[in-house]
Amino acid sequence: EAIEKGGYEHFMLKEIFEQPNSIADCMRGRLKANEGKLVLGGIHEYANALTNAQRIVIVACGTSWHAGLVAEYIIEDFCRIPVEVEYASEFRYRNPIINEGDIVIAISQSGETADTLAALELAKSKGAIILGVVNAVGSSISRITHEGAYLHAGPEIGVASTKAFTAQLTVLIMMALRIAHRKGTITESKYHELLVELESIPAKIKKALDVNDQIKEISARFKDARNFIYLGRGYNFPVALEGALKLKEISYIHAEGYPAAEMKHGPIALIDEEMPVVFIATRDSSYEKVVSNIQEVKARKGKVIAIVTEGEETINQIADFVIEVPHTSEALMPLVSVIPLQLLSYHIAVMRGCNVDQPRNLAKSVTVE
Ligand code: G6P
Repeated sequence: EAIEKGGYEHFMLKEIFEQPNSIADCMRGRLKANEGKLVLGGIHEYANALTNAQRIVIVACGTSWHAGLVAEYIIEDFCRIPVEVEYASEFRYRNPIINEGDIVIAISQSGETADTLAALELAKSKGAIILGVVNAVGSSISRITHEGAYLHAGPEIGVASTKAFTAQLTVLIMMALRIAHRKGTITESKYHELLVELESIPAKIKKALDVNDQIKEISARFKDARNFIYLGRGYNFPVALEGALKLKEISYIHAEGYPAAEMKHGPIALIDEEMPVVFIATRDSSYEKVVSNIQEVKARKGKVIAIVTEGEETINQIADFVIEVPHTSEALMPLVSVIPLQLLSYHIAVMRGCNVDQPRNLAKSVTVE
């Protein structure tokens, strides 16, 4: 087992550090920005159906559901196709509306999650075209779907999903860019800019991983906290949910993720000098709004840990701790901004003596309903 961990103390840490490579593997043979090449070989026969879809429904559970939320923003933004993201367990039990030509996409690391599988079977029986975004080759979901795209992220052993999440985002971004380019809902120059940017993501993640030591220090400061709040807006809202889930799963600290603007409708009541609030506050279209949200938390004496873009100057004056990540396009930011949150949950869990790779009560793949 020590050999399999490749010198890391836990599989989770190994998998976090593997991400520059797992994302490069995910894009290998699919993306070549200088040639303007972007292909997803696994989606071939249904490529037109996907491009012309009137509606896309995404079904997933857990971290994969968070990847689906990011996909909703990207597909609606670039492809102008309405997207609904459903918990598979809710979708399947509520007589969902599926119309001819609807596309249902399942996102699953294991390809074996019982609820996701059952949701797909239901959608298939109602005439939907079902596609899979799956890591485990030959898994049940990959077998029942009409077509799909594998993650090629390699086996993920840690129960808390890390490299599968970023590979899911990578595949979903490639899928959205393919659709948008075919449909003409994105300009040629924006398309090329995003291809180039996507190709640079492994290097940017590598850089984001440099914050590891700084995060250890922050973790030591907050390891005994009883609650955490994670806030973000736009593309970074699902990242806030994912950061909170990672912390709950492995450190057993209660954590909530919220859209930053919704804070006023509840979570703000929880804020006092004891409450750590993690903001994902990178430079994007909602940046100014997030800065005001940070001020609102500071006015109530909350402790702010902010994930910011390199070169940030304003938030440094307000937040208690700032963690810098490299700049990228707004739509690709979750790939980078999630990295410090994975590390934060990891180090806090280790410092609390938790079994990081096999947290209590959780399973890597939930094959019961
Ligand atoms: C379990 C795992 C999570 C995972 C979820 C969905 O809860 O512990 O890490 O996100 O199942 O799994 P899937 O394999 O369908 O992505």
